[in-house]
Amino acid sequence: MKNNTLLSTFSIADLDLKNRMVMAPMTRNRAGQGDVPTDLMVKYYEQRSGAGIIITEASQISPQAKGYPATPGIYSKDQVDGWRKITETVHRKAGKIFIQLWHVGRISHPDFHDGDLPVAPSAIKPAGQAFTFEGLKDFVTPRALEEFEIKNIVEDYRLATKNAKEAGFDGVEIHAANGYLIDQFLVDKTNKRIDKYGGSIENRARFLFEVLDAVTEILPGERVGVRLSPSGLFNDMGDSNPAELFSFVIEKLNHYNLAYLHLIEPLMPIDEYPQLIKNVLEYYGKFYKGVRMINGGFTKESGNKAIHDGLAELVSFGVPYLANPDLEKRFELDADLNEANQDTFYGGNEVGYTDYPLLK
Ligand SMILES: Cc1cc2nc3c(=O)[nH]c(=O)nc-3n(C[C@H](O)[C@H](O)[C@H](O)COP(=O)(O)O)c2cc1C
Repeated sequence: MKNNTLLSTFSIADLDLKNRMVMAPMTRNRAGQGDVPTDLMVKYYEQRSGAGIIITEASQISPQAKGYPATPGIYSKDQVDGWRKITETVHRKAGKIFIQLWHVGRISHPDFHDGDLPVAPSAIKPAGQAFTFEGLKDFVTPRALEEFEIKNIVEDYRLATKNAKEAGFDGVEIHAANGYLIDQFLVDKTNKRIDKYGGSIENRARFLFEVLDAVTEILPGERVGVRLSPSGLFNDMGDSNPAELFSFVIEKLNHYNLAYLHLIEPLMPIDEYPQLIKNVLEYYGKFYKGVRMINGGFTKESGNKAIHDGLAELVSFGVPYLANPDLEKRFELDADLNEANQDTFYGGNEVGYTDYPLLK
């Protein structure tokens, strides 16, 4: 009866999902001292464990990877112990949970690095401002990474994946979207390198695939997801030929037998950018042979339609899950949704975090 809907079950290899609804990764800036997950975070994720998969907020793979206050890490023992409480709690509720692995690259500020510059493929300053402990500050020109440093960052991803495994996660999602480090390598607006990591599409994609090779030495491909935003402009991004770039990347991802490919529809108006594809899923989805997860402004109706039309197997919801811990139940009952309060998205306490009401 529930075949091919958001509420029908789904399996990714031996991972059995209660439904096809995924909680999209969302930074909430509520980690504790040492960027360790807190008990409040345990409660937040527990409340949302009815999702088929929870993808955690982006989590830095090293101190260098950080660019916002109070985001959790996955490189220290205390962080691993903190995350373990979350994975155990979600598993007790028969939920599944992946951690999103993150390096922000140039989207950072010297305030997070004892005065050192943020790093990036090339020394190109993003337009805009960083969120620091002291409020908004202009971005600075980052330092271009040396080749040996790129290798070290790949090792950081490998270690973070080991840590994720130790913390009990069902899998990891590689954050290659939204203008952070991997995306900065992919896109020609931010990558002007002349070594093997820059120039051709193959070279610009090299870093992503080196990361993926390292991560899949620790976990099987079917426990690894990749997130891409082929029509994203967030964080001052852009490519001269995104259709060619991202179709190359997606075709190559077919060789990794991944858990899923997570695509984001454009989240901002893109009419001024004729090179950007308006319907990401319809255009890019066809290059991918495995499980497709789609995100960006989806509702119960449009999510069911994407699944029904055979365009996607999974749909992720960001703001709807943020404001509705029991979103899948509300969809099932056609109940009204809580409204999200944007003032409490980033930072703070339980208000606007764990106090969204459940259905009576
Ligand atoms: C508060 C907030 C934090 C976010 N943090 C992340 C993040 O850490 N990693 C990521 O890939 N996307 C992040 N996003 C983007 C969401 O995953 C998602 O793409 C976006 O909200 C659109 O989906 P929706 O329309 O279902 O909300 C964030 C979005 C919001 C609203």
